[in-house]
Amino acid sequence: MERVKTLFLLSSFLLLTTVASQHSNVCSRPQLEGNIELTGIQRFFSPGVELPLACQQGYTPVSGPRKIVCTVSGEWTKTKFKCMPKECPYPDVVVNGDMFYEDTVYQSVINYTCNKGYILTGASSAVCQANGTWSTSAPLCIPVACGLAPIPQFGMVIYERRVRGKTTDYGLTATYACLPPYALFGKATAECTLQGTWTETPECRVVTCPPPDSIERGYMSESERREFSYMERVKYDCQGDYVIEGNTEIVCQENGRWSDMPSCKAPCTVGIERGRILYKGRKMWIEDFQPNTVLHKEVVSVYCMNKARKCGYALSTQCIDGALKIPECFEEPSSTDYNLHSNSLPSEIEQC
Ligand SMILES: *[C@@H]1O[C@H](CO)[C@@H](O)[C@H](O)[C@H]1NC(C)=O
Ligand SMILES: *[C@@H]1O[C@H](CO)[C@@H](O)[C@H](O)[C@H]1NC(C)=O
Repeated sequence: MERVKTLFLLSSFLLLTTVASQHSNVCSRPQLEGNIELTGIQRFFSPGVELPLACQQGYTPVSGPRKIVCTVSGEWTKTKFKCMPKECPYPDVVVNGDMFYEDTVYQSVINYTCNKGYILTGASSAVCQANGTWSTSAPLCIPVACGLAPIPQFGMVIYERRVRGKTTDYGLTATYACLPPYALFGKATAECTLQGTWTETPECRVVTCPPPDSIERGYMSESERREFSYMERVKYDCQGDYVIEGNTEIVCQENGRWSDMPSCKAPCTVGIERGRILYKGRKMWIEDFQPNTVLHKEVVSVYCMNKARKCGYALSTQCIDGALKIPECFEEPSSTDYNLHSNSLPSEIEQC
């Protein structure tokens, strides 16, 4: 098309400068649109000359007379001749894939893709050619497959589904385990990826923990000073009124360290001499509370006076590792009040 245009411009120029006066009634090479092709390179045509029309490559004629005639006035006759792009056949569907195209005529492009988990084999696009055929046939979408998952030394692999033969499907997962005393390093699961390979395989390594420490005021199930292997456990407990806090059992972890140790927490005494306390739902005089021992985390209440309203109320406090704070509102009565006027103590009068 571009070439035709240039020739036409060139010819007009020549016509004006050199031959205009003598040949005013010749026809110039026509400029035709719509993918029509003119044969030859002739620039001027005498009146009466017929010029046959054809379609460019990839186009087919559809209507109108296939020629134009140069008239006496130096103009070409009109024509309704048209060229339409050739049609390529409707493309075959891609199994497990997709195709994208806007049209199926000459120069149209089809793009092919495969679904996730499938690999495209063949060309990923096709072009409708001048002769009405596609440049390539549809590609195949072949499922991604991995080999069997690699097995670490001293370890084993368990597939999510049963595996037949020596290939596994994309997306299949495998779980690893190590044979004791080996511990697993890395991810415990692997997957067959889109690349057809397995994600990283973990390792099985020997792991030992040093002899476990003893805990104050406590004892443990293993007193032997030896190295312990991965996943071995040791139990702890506390002496007497000491209460264990934390896990009663520690385990040798895969990093060669023990899990968090428990500790033994001390009991408390209720530090009042005169008064009543409320302990485990029982209201009792302090001298009757024998032995005067509250275990770690246990709660005990003392009685306080609401002076404005002249009523008594119980206020609780908790034993935390040997410390039991008596609430500030508690007032220790004098021994006279305690012995002679005990009816007026906050624990005895009307409760708020
Ligand atoms: C086909 O792919 C090409 C290149 O990625 C893109 O430019 C074009 O728009 C695509 N055509 C269709 C119909 O999806
Ligand atoms: C169509 O054109 C292409 C490219 O020029 C050629 O390879 C192919 O053989 C042609 N097919 C037919 C059926 O003529």
